Amino acid sequence: MSWLELAAVALVFLVAASILWSTVRYGMPPMPSLGRAQQAMLEMVEDPLPSQIVDLGSGWGNLAVIFARRFPQAQVIGYEVSWFPWLYSLALKRILGLRNLSFHRRDFRSASIEDDAVVLCYLAREGMESVRSLLEQQRPSRVTVISHHFALPGSQPESVVELADIYQTPIYRYQLRWPEDQIEE
Ligand SMILES: C[S@@+](CC[C@H](N)C(=O)[O-])C[C@H]1O[C@@H](n2cnc3c(N)ncnc32)[C@H](O)[C@@H]1O
Repeated sequence: MSWLELAAVALVFLVAASILWSTVRYGMPPMPSLGRAQQAMLEMVEDPLPSQIVDLGSGWGNLAVIFARRFPQAQVIGYEVSWFPWLYSLALKRILGLRNLSFHRRDFRSASIEDDAVVLCYLAREGMESVRSLLEQQRPSRVTVISHHFALPGSQPESVVELADIYQTPIYRYQLRWPEDQIEE
């Protein structure tokens, strides 16, 4: 095996190990929302159009890209802990030249959520608990949470759409307000 081949194998191993590590550490692989799920999530954004859209756990960045294209008036921000998917999403942003899109390699638990933001999630139960804690800490006056597959614990969804796939995957939409309608315990 040449040095070049050896370097390529080492790189693949490093990338795979880092994705595995973040999956074990944060409980969710960088599995993207695709096709019908993306479409259903886009359709759940209602007027007035948001000025901030935050993807909590942005993976490879594809969902954030689609939202940045559909909502050019909004700043779309992705937070991702896994460095290779994050690098990929940076490259995607650069290639597509989307100026209203940014990606941070950061734990979303330190994200800043503005009033009237739209929050996107495709996270397992533990991650959804963290989303709830983040919102309770920040108390935006109004926020829309759109979640692929996993419910936000302690809250009643305003609507749920079931995808026409074999799992009938749910997409949840929540409207939360502070201080009036605090998240129910
Ligand atoms: C299933 S993917 C979803 C990707 C994208 N949101 C989508 O729907 O296409 C979930 C991502 O969340 C990331 N993640 C999980 N917990 C996180 C945390 N606390 N902070 C930042 N990223 C996190 C994982 O690394 C993973 O890439």
